[in-house]
Amino acid sequence: MGKNARQTSRLTAKSTLKPARNPKEESLATTADVLGKKLVTFAEPTKTPESGNARVISVVNQKGGVGKTTTAINLGAALAEVGRRVLLIDFDSQASMTTGLGIKGAALREQYGSIWYLLNDSEAKLEDFILKSTVPGLDFIRGHEDLAAAEAAFVSEIAKEHKLRKLLAPVLDKYDVILIDCSPSLGTLTVNALTASNGVIIPMECEYFAVLGLSLVKKTIQKIKENTNPELQILGILATMFERKTSHSREVLELIDKEFPDEVFDTIISRTVRFSESTVAGVPVTAYASSSSGSASYRRLARELIARGGAK
Ligand SMILES: Nc1ncnc2c1ncn2[C@@H]1O[C@H](COP(=O)(O)OP(=O)(O)OP(=O)(O)O)[C@@H](O)[C@H]1O
Ligand SMILES: [Mg+2]
Repeated sequence: MGKNARQTSRLTAKSTLKPARNPKEESLATTADVLGKKLVTFAEPTKTPESGNARVISVVNQKGGVGKTTTAINLGAALAEVGRRVLLIDFDSQASMTTGLGIKGAALREQYGSIWYLLNDSEAKLEDFILKSTVPGLDFIRGHEDLAAAEAAFVSEIAKEHKLRKLLAPVLDKYDVILIDCSPSLGTLTVNALTASNGVIIPMECEYFAVLGLSLVKKTIQKIKENTNPELQILGILATMFERKTSHSREVLELIDKEFPDEVFDTIISRTVRFSESTVAGVPVTAYASSSSGSASYRRLARELIARGGAK
């Protein structure tokens, strides 16, 4: 089967003919639309899934500022909106996710209860430190700047790659999805996140240099599969900061679709100032600007992820 036929059948199998619910969605850029392929829509997930056994998903790219944190927060919020119980883990010493969920100042500097605190105190139980966000169904564990020391602190530990997996095990039954926001590195922390995960989402800015970094992420994922987590799956590469008006964005999308034909999400996240604004406001964009195209895109991504089997 030729590549294009393969692509079409994959998309057809996972799609439905239902029209998009949100009229805003009709104007969203999608991979199929931009690349002139058959358009697809994803069904509204109606049923709440069987409870328990959360799917753990890492949001990873060693390149900085590509939309990892924005994706973790807003995909998490969109999944919560369709009834999924979601836990976000801020696994980056920049603690941007924690800030984006409204924790600032002295509370942000507090180490007690952060993921770094939990990794270091063998008596501490993660379930005792879960925080509620302003979105119903969306919980999180705080990050802390001291997490930066983890790379050095873990060096001499036995089974260091499994620390996060062990920490999450007791809460898997309480959630449908656990999203881990990783730092822009492929070091020990990200190895921990990937070892604890069922799947990976790779946000990628629609910019040429970003394409070059993708093979490094993929090599790391392959190493994890060979060494600590054979079940790990790439759930998709997510094109972010897409600009419809520039041919550069389209060329980059063409390139990644050619190189990784089965892995590019149909949903694209366009560039919009709403994301930075919602971070300052300390809430997901789905709450800050519910009817914006940014919100519609992440809601569509949530549906696509469920349709592809990446989340329940
Ligand atoms: N689609 C988008 N359009 C415009 N701005 C965006 C978009 N996505 C994210 N941003 C903004 O770009 C900046 C970087 O995004 P984000 O923090 O999500 O990236 P990151 O990959 O998590 O960065 P880091 O590698 O530093 O953790 C933030 O200010 C965010 O608000
Ligand atoms: Mg980040």
